[in-house]
Amino acid sequence: MDAEEIQRRVRELEPWVNGFEYGGVRYAEGSSHDYLLSQDPEGRAEAFFAAFPEAGRILELGALEGADTVALARRPGTSVLAMEGRQENLSRAELVVEVFGLTNVELRLADVERLDFAELGAFDVVLCAGLMYHVREPWTLLENIASVAGGLYLSTHYWGTSEGLDALGGYAVKNVREGHPEPQARGLSVDVRWLDRPSLFAALKNAGFTEVEVLHERVSAEVCDIVAACRKEVVR
Ligand SMILES: C[S@@+](CC[C@H](N)C(=O)[O-])C[C@H]1O[C@@H](n2cnc3c(N)ncnc32)[C@H](O)[C@@H]1O
Repeated sequence: MDAEEIQRRVRELEPWVNGFEYGGVRYAEGSSHDYLLSQDPEGRAEAFFAAFPEAGRILELGALEGADTVALARRPGTSVLAMEGRQENLSRAELVVEVFGLTNVELRLADVERLDFAELGAFDVVLCAGLMYHVREPWTLLENIASVAGGLYLSTHYWGTSEGLDALGGYAVKNVREGHPEPQARGLSVDVRWLDRPSLFAALKNAGFTEVEVLHERVSAEVCDIVAACRKEVVR
C-alpha cells in the first residue's frame, strides 16, 4: 500500500485517537480528537519483553487502534490476539496491522466483561493496559486473565485513598462514572469500579498472581498509576 492509499483509508476512518507512523510518515495527524494517549508503544513493548522475554503467544485486551499490538507483534517469534470493544477502533487497528504487513495478529471485537475467556485458549502473557479501571469488576477480569495465562503485564490506575470507599466482594472500591476525556477510549460500562492499592494487590493474589513486580508507580491522594509484571508462579 503506498502513502496515498494509506492516507485515503486513514481519512475514511477518522477521527482517530492516536494515529500512527509508518515509513517515516505520520498518519491521522489533524484528526478532531483533543486528547492523545501518552504511552509510547515502543517503550511499552520494550518493558513488556524485558519483563517477559519468553512471551510468544500474547493476548492483548483493549487494543484501541493497534499501536501496542503492532509493537508487540513486530518482535520475531510472537503472535498476538488483540481484543477491542469498539468496532470503530477495531477497524482502525485492522488498517494499521495491514499497513505493517503483520500476519501474526488476530483482531477481534469483544467486550472483556462478557467474554468467555476459556474459548480463547492459552497464552504466555496478557497485556492489560488502560483497561482494568474501565470495568465493573476488576477482580473478575484478573481472575479471567489468570485462567488463560501465567503472566500479566498490567498498566492501570488505582484509587489513592482507602477512606470513604465501599466494600464489595471483599475489596474496597471507588465507584466511578466513566469520564475519560477521549470517548473512544472509555469503558463499555458507564459505572465502573476502581480498587485501592491494598485491594488491587489482594485481587492479583486471589487471581493467582503471587509475584508482583512493580515497574513504575505514581502515587497521589486520588488517581494513581501503576505498571506491574505479574506472575502466577516464579520459574527459576
Ligand atoms: C484507555 S484505552 C487504552 C488503550 C491501550 N490499551 C493503551 O493502553 O493505550 C481503553 C481501550 O479499551 C477499550 N475498552 C474499554 N472497555 C472495554 C471492554 N469492556 N471490552 C473491550 N474493550 C474495551 C476501549 O474501547 C479502548 O480502546
